[in-house]
Amino acid sequence: MRTIDWVDGAIELVDQTALPDRCDLLRIGTVDELVGAIRRLAVRGAPALGVAGALGVALAVRDEPDPVKAAARLRAARPTAVNLAWAVDAALGHLDGGFEAVLAHALRIRDDDIAACRAMGERGADLVRELTGRDRVRIMTVCNTGGLAAVERGTALGVVQTLHERGQLTEALALETRPLLQGARLTAWELGRMGAPYRLVADSAGPFLLARGYADAVLIGADRIAADGDTANKIGSYALALGAQRAGVPFVVVAPESTLDPATPTGAAIEIEERDEEEVLGVRGVRLAPEGARAANPAFDVTPHDLVTAIVTERRVIRPDLGERP
Ligand code: MRU
Repeated sequence: MRTIDWVDGAIELVDQTALPDRCDLLRIGTVDELVGAIRRLAVRGAPALGVAGALGVALAVRDEPDPVKAAARLRAARPTAVNLAWAVDAALGHLDGGFEAVLAHALRIRDDDIAACRAMGERGADLVRELTGRDRVRIMTVCNTGGLAAVERGTALGVVQTLHERGQLTEALALETRPLLQGARLTAWELGRMGAPYRLVADSAGPFLLARGYADAVLIGADRIAADGDTANKIGSYALALGAQRAGVPFVVVAPESTLDPATPTGAAIEIEERDEEEVLGVRGVRLAPEGARAANPAFDVTPHDLVTAIVTERRVIRPDLGERP
């Protein structure tokens, strides 16, 4: 199954707001519809956002009076995942060739993502074995970094999938990932479809479970990796990295080269998306907090590079713990 694709002149994508109750396909035919889908996380996850952005530029070139202005709206729909801006800019680079050239480039980004995720799965699974010295492993992860966050297979969850296919996965421990529950809704759904053994844990249990030896490695994805290796990812990643270091558990970031951002020198320069307070004050439309309560809702955090054991891309393994930088 593909999470996002170009079908008969429009973008088709799995509506991630409806999962796990329903697996609905959305057909997106305009840039404004796509901006809305990105903002409400109907399509989400850095690699999928990249493909969406590039396909969105094709829609802009075909239908919008000012495609560059429409592409700018798309580019700004979410600020943290660099893949969105990167893919929009790359597709705009083919503007002179018209709609066909832009679409061809967007489809290349889609195909490259499929290949990159396969390569990261293999390399990441090999690395986990090397770092842990174990034939069978327990992996902790946060958010959703599976096929739903990419096109076919994912990044960190793609490694978990490869480990499972190799018979090397004892258990995946997935953090539920408040406030929007990408772990409980999406990662659990994907692990179930894979037939992989897993348990969900509350986000706050992650570091303690690492201290008690429940996982052999932590694998996360990334939304943007700065030039020094500092890594922006779903809120909760930093706490896991601190817990992993204290427990002596490898902390591995799995992301395609397109998530590396050499133009951002350190994590301090990464813009962190602040989302609507309502996402924290309730859950899936049910109010939890008393009237008048306020909330802070950073969608991501930044893990400093000295807490990162390794970064796995489709081309290489970078070892920040050994002084290497992307
Ligand atoms: O807010 P989201 O659900 O888009 O956040 C997604 C993440 O933080 C993922 O870990 C990241 O984009 C990598 S997806 C392979």
